[in-house]
Amino acid sequence: MLRRLHHEQPENFAFTKKNLTWAKEQIKKYPEGREASAIIPLLWRAQEQEGWLTRPAIEYVSDLLNMAYIRALEVASFYFMFQLQPVGEVAHIQVCGTTSCMISGAEDLAKVCEKLISKNQHEISKNGKFSWEEVECLGACSNAPMVQIGKDFYEDLNSENFKKILMQFEEGKVPKPGPQNGRYAAEPLSGLTTLSEYEADKMTFNASVNLAVELKDTIARIGAQEKPNKDGK
Ligand code: FES
Repeated sequence: MLRRLHHEQPENFAFTKKNLTWAKEQIKKYPEGREASAIIPLLWRAQEQEGWLTRPAIEYVSDLLNMAYIRALEVASFYFMFQLQPVGEVAHIQVCGTTSCMISGAEDLAKVCEKLISKNQHEISKNGKFSWEEVECLGACSNAPMVQIGKDFYEDLNSENFKKILMQFEEGKVPKPGPQNGRYAAEPLSGLTTLSEYEADKMTFNASVNLAVELKDTIARIGAQEKPNKDGK
């Protein structure tokens, strides 16, 4: 799919003070002369701040990393995690439409999105809260069908539990990510058949759900409420 910059762009972009401090720390993790390796986390943070990845944000990050704009644009336009057009204010839903998900009901999930969000992908819902798109395999095939919302995966979905999840986001809640059919992780629905000796010590949720519950940043806009740093650098 061809991914282009959106035809309407804001005039400028700057990280907030906190995000800029964070960005500089990320850059320090790489050896001198290799600062450009920080491109993905910095673009991601710009998207977290703004909601989507604007041309001024891509250029701002390129300047921070002393990169040619075209090189940053190549990265931004390659990865589907970067949204090059405005998205719903609350969440952008990515429905996996690859084989495992498709044969397990991804089309039903897409129909829910068409009905509750918008007929067309990448269109913002009438209430401004949501947008959606179909994406390639997100790597949770054994928990198909699944969607990514913000930073987290919602798995083992069907039309009904997916609708409920969307309703909860609509009400301002963040439902617990992970399997939605009672599974802990990716074990058989009937329970573990091997390694069952570890069952007693397991955490309340599996590791990624546990992290999501602790961090509470599933759909957080990091720094969106703060003013951008005045001089931008
Ligand atoms: S096919 Fe959907 S996560 Fe892999």
